[in-house]
Amino acid sequence: MHAERDLSEVWSLLREQEPVAWHPTADGGFWVVSRYETAVRVYRDTETYTSSRGNVLATLLNGGDPAGGKMLPVSDGPRHMQIRRELLRALTPRALAGLGERIHDATRRLVVEAVAREDCDLGRDVAPYVPLAAICDLLMVPEEDRELLLSQSKLALASETPDGTEMEARLARNEILLYFSRLARSRQDAPGDDILGLLIQMTRSSVALTDQELLYNAYSLLLGGDETTRLSMIGTVHALIHRPDEWARLKTGEVPIATAVEEFLRWTTPTLHAGRVATTDTTLDGREIAQGDIVTIWNSSANFDPAQFDDPGRLRLSRSPNRHLTFAQGPHFCLGAQLARIELTALVTALVEAADGMELIGEPKRLYSNFLSGFHSLPVRFAAAAAKKEF
Ligand code: HEM
Repeated sequence: MHAERDLSEVWSLLREQEPVAWHPTADGGFWVVSRYETAVRVYRDTETYTSSRGNVLATLLNGGDPAGGKMLPVSDGPRHMQIRRELLRALTPRALAGLGERIHDATRRLVVEAVAREDCDLGRDVAPYVPLAAICDLLMVPEEDRELLLSQSKLALASETPDGTEMEARLARNEILLYFSRLARSRQDAPGDDILGLLIQMTRSSVALTDQELLYNAYSLLLGGDETTRLSMIGTVHALIHRPDEWARLKTGEVPIATAVEEFLRWTTPTLHAGRVATTDTTLDGREIAQGDIVTIWNSSANFDPAQFDDPGRLRLSRSPNRHLTFAQGPHFCLGAQLARIELTALVTALVEAADGMELIGEPKRLYSNFLSGFHSLPVRFAAAAAKKEF
């Protein structure tokens, strides 16, 4: 439904009339939070709304996440904070400086090649190679294994066709876990100073990371950072094709790229929702929530809430402040936000340098998922830049 229908009218009605709404299912149901301000409150209150049973609606409706308590996005409390703190050290702007340069170089090459092509598909020729390469570099995944991880990552959380099954997705997730299990085993004697090395060292330090925690967290970095960033990159070009006026403001330098990147992140909102479970009976905006109820926070609605964003249905690259919820908020705020920003900045910078314009040359194709949102295919033709722009 999220792939085939524009739900903005539905979200608008819900925000106005039933901001915390009960959505019944065949054997239960779940709460739908659509307002920005309520979403922030739920994100921040991990005591009342826990992630430890899962943070994706489909998983929560199917009995919960087997990685609960062992993987950052689906853990809470002191253990979550302890592991998060360690991993954050590897993802600060300073720690990412070297990788950032490689990302800019690689993205520039891909974009220059894309501009030279008559028939580029951004979802095939550019977007798959930037985020995956960045995370694989962070985890020191050998070059020859990356295609396998890309193919499994594409199946693990969403489908490019309407008939993708949960079984297919589960097999892909298992394949990724198995892969990291073999890779971690091969690195036991010389862990290295990348993030996988850091995780291996955490099994031997006072953190006493278990093997399962190691595997799940490596897997979570790959799945958390690959498809989401790809979708935001493809959605950025899609947005620019439809707004030549905003593209012109980027091209002339009128809008700083860093400001524009935040608006692209809001506009594309690759992660539609986050799920939680109420740990106690409580009330939320006047609705009675029972202990054990599933509560879903819809970023796709909160990021377009007029109470927070002026004229939210309009892409405005100069929007500032822009406190979007694309990376959530609170204790689970996206660990890879800095990396995702670097990757999007690299894309936009390369486009401004190499292209004068862009047009759609085929039908864009959306993903089928109620968790991830965006296009997996975007056929586009670029006009090469007449004069090279230096930054
Ligand atoms: C958490 C979105 C890029 C790794 C999250 C959450 C969101 C999110 C919404 C919070 C989930 C929740 O509260 O249940 C995105 C988007 C991205 C992106 C839209 C790209 C545009 C990345 C990258 C990485 C990454 C590049 C890896 C380097 C993670 C991890 C968490 C997380 C490990 C869990 C943090 C925690 O629970 O403490 N992300 N993410 N993400 N993200 Fe991202």
